[in-house]
Amino acid sequence: MENRKWKAAVVTLSDKGYAGEREDKSGPLVCEILRDAGYDVQKTKLLPDEQKEIEKYLCKLCDDDKMDIIFTTGGTGFSPRDCTPEATLAVATRNAPGIAEAMRLASLKITPRAMLSRGASVIRNSTLIVNLPGSPKAAKENLEAVLPSLQHGLEILTGRAGECAR
Ligand code: MTE
Repeated sequence: MENRKWKAAVVTLSDKGYAGEREDKSGPLVCEILRDAGYDVQKTKLLPDEQKEIEKYLCKLCDDDKMDIIFTTGGTGFSPRDCTPEATLAVATRNAPGIAEAMRLASLKITPRAMLSRGASVIRNSTLIVNLPGSPKAAKENLEAVLPSLQHGLEILTGRAGECAR
């Protein structure tokens, strides 16, 4: 098996962060966890909660930059401006709901408020897109719940593994 690093992008969605009213601590934390896990984090971006803008950037990361995986953080809650799951679902070519389900399942053991994240997980062609909640604590807890299983999914998605080991 070729042992190459997965190309990853981390996108923070926050009106306050974009306006410079709040420091983005979640994006850098997600990058750090990914780099420690061996991912090649090539792109990071801070965007406002604007659905069309998010969709456009996600498409660029998938279609032009050929990322293997994209993590978003923020914009998954019930605030009227939160639109990360809608932008993510709009650019999907296939659904991959198990990752979001696993994150909520693990997170519910930590806080009942985990049910308030509407985060989605989808595939666009050969890129996996995973929504994480916005606070550094929630982003870390959600990411760590699924990270060990993602490698195998990426191997199947990108054709580097033909079948699941039994
Ligand atoms: N998941 C975990 N593991 N830990 C948390 O503290 N916070 C929840 C939820 N998921 C939380 C969590 C809360 S309070 C909210 S409102 C939602 O994530 C949505 O967060 P977002 O709007 O910042 O994306």
